[in-house]
Amino acid sequence: MTYLHYSASVETIDPDEDETFRKIIDVMAGGGRITRERYGQSVRTSHAKTHGLLKGELRVLDGLPPELRQGLFAEPKAYPVIVRLAHVPGELLDDRRVSTPRGMAIKVLGVEGPKLPAHQGQVTHDFVLDTGKVFNAPTAKVFLGAITATEVATPMPEGVKGAVSMASRATNAVLNAVGLNSANLDFYGHPFNHPLTESYFTQCAVRYGDYVAKIGFFPVTYAGDALVQPFEPKDENGLRTTVVEAFRVRGTEFEVRVQLCTDLDRMPVENASTEWPEDESPYLPVARLTLPPQDAFTAARQSFVDEDLLFCPAHALAAHRPLGSIMRARMKAYEALGTARIRENGRTRREPRSIEEMPA
Ligand code: HEM
Repeated sequence: MTYLHYSASVETIDPDEDETFRKIIDVMAGGGRITRERYGQSVRTSHAKTHGLLKGELRVLDGLPPELRQGLFAEPKAYPVIVRLAHVPGELLDDRRVSTPRGMAIKVLGVEGPKLPAHQGQVTHDFVLDTGKVFNAPTAKVFLGAITATEVATPMPEGVKGAVSMASRATNAVLNAVGLNSANLDFYGHPFNHPLTESYFTQCAVRYGDYVAKIGFFPVTYAGDALVQPFEPKDENGLRTTVVEAFRVRGTEFEVRVQLCTDLDRMPVENASTEWPEDESPYLPVARLTLPPQDAFTAARQSFVDEDLLFCPAHALAAHRPLGSIMRARMKAYEALGTARIRENGRTRREPRSIEEMPA
């Protein structure tokens, strides 16, 4: 198979996109002001509610073919990781009433090699992933329109959101039944899956050394597991409760797979809502993420990870530069809004240099 070679020309920069990014940051900051008033402290303006705070290891597979032996995955090596599981809204919603896509943020430590300019001198590489193979907006401009509508929903009472969720979950189930999935409906109508049975994706393209790729984390341990599926949240923090219970019993593993781009027309970089055809280029295994049994939600971890850490697509090896306008927007937004969150809470931002900094 012939894979597309990376060059700067795989991206198309819109001349007024900085203005779009600034507006996205303004809208999200507005949502942040509402939630700060509601909770008496700043929470993440997206993925506010934590379901698990974990440590583990990312092990690159031995014997990869040359096209997969790139960047972080160039050598069969093991890296310590810090993982935060969360769900999408920038609000602390009742898990029994509202079901949304979930996120997995991974900070890989001990990473040598050239980083993006703003991340030089650091030894971390972040993967900031969500459930679903594509993002619900193709471009930053479309995303701006969509979050303007969602932020309007932030002051809604939760009962109303619960109703929205039930209606759109039903519609989503119908669409799924005929093999379709609506990324937009999924925002409030995500099926009640156990977070450890989900696959998590970059959704947007990244540079993959000499190539261009999307990256996915696929569950191994809990794939189709009857122990945890179907899943009913037991209380308002039901997702966290179930993650903590699962890690008390056993650890979990995800297989990391890479889908290389073969053609920019069928696998666009500047349209994050186009699913790349897997019959043309399948997701291929490159690594394993192992999270051993542990206490998955402690006050000490909350203080360190939730308060002081910033997971950001711009925390990256140059060899894995995030690509496309959604990613370019994210690189600016996480930095601006994450730094503000930490400052407003009177905390000090930390970028770990060793896994020993993560509380046990
Ligand atoms: C233009 C599009 C997007 C914007 C502007 C955006 C913005 C943000 C912001 C501001 C935060 C909170 C940062 C903080 O306070 O630390 C955040 C968190 C997060 N976002 Fe996005 N996001 C976008 C798209 C995405 C996509 C495509 C994904 C996944 C594929 C994603 C996954 C996540 C996750 C998992 C978190 C939580 C990170 C953590 O645990 O700290 N976001 N996002």
